[in-house]
Amino acid sequence: MANPLAHIHIRTYDTTCPRTDPLPSLQEGSLTIRPVLQSSDSSFGAEIFGVDWKKPVPDELVKQLISLQDRYAVLIFRETGLDNARHIAFSQQLGEKLEINPFFYGRENDRLGEPLLFDVGNIELDGSLVKRDSRRWHHSLGNALWHTDSSYHKQRSKYSLLLSHGNPVHGGSWTHFADTRRAYSDLPPEKKSQLEDLIVEHDLWHSRKLASPIIYGSPLPHELAAKPPAFHKLVQIAPDGRKTLYLAAHAKRIVGWEVEESQKLIWELIEHCTKPEYVFSMEWLRGGDMVWWDNRQSMHRANPYTDSMTARDVRRSTVVDDGVDAFGVVV
Ligand code: OGA
Ligand code: MN
Repeated sequence: MANPLAHIHIRTYDTTCPRTDPLPSLQEGSLTIRPVLQSSDSSFGAEIFGVDWKKPVPDELVKQLISLQDRYAVLIFRETGLDNARHIAFSQQLGEKLEINPFFYGRENDRLGEPLLFDVGNIELDGSLVKRDSRRWHHSLGNALWHTDSSYHKQRSKYSLLLSHGNPVHGGSWTHFADTRRAYSDLPPEKKSQLEDLIVEHDLWHSRKLASPIIYGSPLPHELAAKPPAFHKLVQIAPDGRKTLYLAAHAKRIVGWEVEESQKLIWELIEHCTKPEYVFSMEWLRGGDMVWWDNRQSMHRANPYTDSMTARDVRRSTVVDDGVDAFGVVV
């Protein structure tokens, strides 16, 4: 079986964003689109230029951006200059409900203290960096495993919008993305039919345990109660109409299978989806950079915390899914 922990390392994949060999840009109305990965049957990732973030984004432009989002699954905007309030306001234009932060370590200990934002950086309230072996350190290690956000929710999430607030990071700051639509499409027909009707149990505590077996071998009662598992189909229809794999390190068990054989298949598929041709590494260049991804048709991962890390201030809003598959499957 593939070793999930092999993913917890700092690296960049073959393709980066910005690319070292940029693809031709496209113009669509006022927007310039610079694609990241392009194959005969899939476009994945694009830098978008031409949005005026100083003003509220007009509804027509939001529509255009959503249609680009459906096509590319990961949109990158440079130097938006957005603050917390405008970050939240734009996210609210993309769906009715934003996810609420459970504040596992107490709202009073959260740097942002804003229930509609998740602090996924590495800075504590007093300005120090997250301490090695703190519970927050161990919790965050799971973000370095390939995943999609909140697949363990009964009502899953649709989009995540991660915004950088500056802080130059020595040695570079990266987030990595994988195209699960193209990966699905390249599977052999027999494999596709084997997967078609499978239902997967997603559990946050499963990915925490994989990344940090000792500390999260037994999550605390309030943690377990806050995030019970959820069930979703493995093969789903993506917003652009193609089939995709809905997968994450949170995926624990295929319904009706033993955990061990489930994990074998799940990690075989995650390995497949994260082959170099389906993956790119996005570089955070400057404060205000924002990446907006579709959790229904991609996976992503962070770089892990290290002893030599420098300050990184990135904040995420998460838009709850309101589509037909939002609630997954009742088992
Ligand atoms: C997230 C996440 C990646 C990163 O916010 O959901 O996985 O690079 N972040 O911080
Ligand atoms: Mn994530």
